[in-house]
Amino acid sequence: MYITGAGRTKFGVLPQTMPELAYEAMNSAIDDANADVRDIGAIFVSNFIGGPLNGQLHLNSLVASLLPGTNVPIVRVETACASSSTALRQAIFALDHYDMVMVLGVEKMNSRPIIGITEAIAMASDRQLDQASGMIFPASYALIAQQYMRRYGIGHEVLEQVSLINHQNSRSNPLAHFYYKDVTLETIRKSPVVATPLNLFDCSPISDGAVALVLSRKRRSPRDIRILSSQYSTDTLSPSQRRDMTSFAATKIAAHLAYQEAGIRPEDVDLAEVHDCFTISELVALDDLGFSEPGRAPELIMDGQVLRDGSIPVNMDGGLKADGHPIGATGLAQLYELMIQLRNEADVRQVSDARIGLAQNIGGIGGTAAVTLLGRD
Ligand code: COA
Repeated sequence: MYITGAGRTKFGVLPQTMPELAYEAMNSAIDDANADVRDIGAIFVSNFIGGPLNGQLHLNSLVASLLPGTNVPIVRVETACASSSTALRQAIFALDHYDMVMVLGVEKMNSRPIIGITEAIAMASDRQLDQASGMIFPASYALIAQQYMRRYGIGHEVLEQVSLINHQNSRSNPLAHFYYKDVTLETIRKSPVVATPLNLFDCSPISDGAVALVLSRKRRSPRDIRILSSQYSTDTLSPSQRRDMTSFAATKIAAHLAYQEAGIRPEDVDLAEVHDCFTISELVALDDLGFSEPGRAPELIMDGQVLRDGSIPVNMDGGLKADGHPIGATGLAQLYELMIQLRNEADVRQVSDARIGLAQNIGGIGGTAAVTLLGRD
């Protein structure tokens, strides 16, 4: 199975509506695949908060309206911030029946005042155990940060470095939410507290955007990228029901299955896109994916091993922190970056000789975790 076409919009606070974003991404993915919309046998749509924020559900039919004459099966998939990675897996299954299918991730988040957006995002957490006690997302990840920092004896300077690196990476990605912003360590340090120990610059932003990928059962062009594995695992909705908050079991399980399916080890991965919805989650991801021993991710950050010329380049597009986090599109944005890197089309941020890329995409506070491996033949 291959990804044969990829398209995405800019991420950020955008003037376009949700349908406009969806149309732009699908159109450019179909163009990139050098295909016709009539070649697509089925479509999988990922969207998280179109209901509460845009008053728009029934997105499968909305997509059909955007592609007139397309009466193929279309379905919406929702697993919070991991929605587009799980939609990808459903699309892969559908390649048993169709030669070509499309996955679309779309989110229009900047449509309400921030309080309404925060409440809508919180719907991805446990209503009784988390929401009722005010555990909005930054607060939940702040607890994870407190525990990780205490257990492994690190300070906020490691999180600041994660933020700085991702913001610097986004400066070479014209489609990134914060492409325009020159961020220094001082800006990061002076930013206001959101939930101790997390500051503004520890958080991913509220982004609009869309990404689409066209998948093909067979190789169609030398630019096609092979899907080596797509796995996901689930866990309790509330982290309070787990024994450990410094690691996500769902990531570890999905990663184990993905490495096994692809027949590779963590050290074979040439670059990774990890789910840094908050800076702390990048550290947890690096440990859980086996790029570092538990608690040793801070060394990868402080030694510069996650930079473009390091041992494991991470989030070359700026990650969720600085490329942006339009929730329903985020997992596909990670794969979009891996696509252009593995095609050797990433321009100034190209990782040299990239052959295997990994994407890790989390839903909620680790209640869903997807790991996808792509490879250049
Ligand atoms: N990082 C860096 N800067 C940010 C930012 C972020 N996450 N969010 C906003 N800003 C900047 C804006 O660009 C703006 O800068 P400017 O004055 O130079 O133009 C300034 O901060 C104010 O922006 P505003 O939109 O008013 O911020 P806000 O207070 O409404 O939102 C947060 C800030 C942190 C509350 C919001 O970004 C947030 O909720 N993030 C987390 C999202 C989340 O939980 N996602 C799901 C994760 S699993």
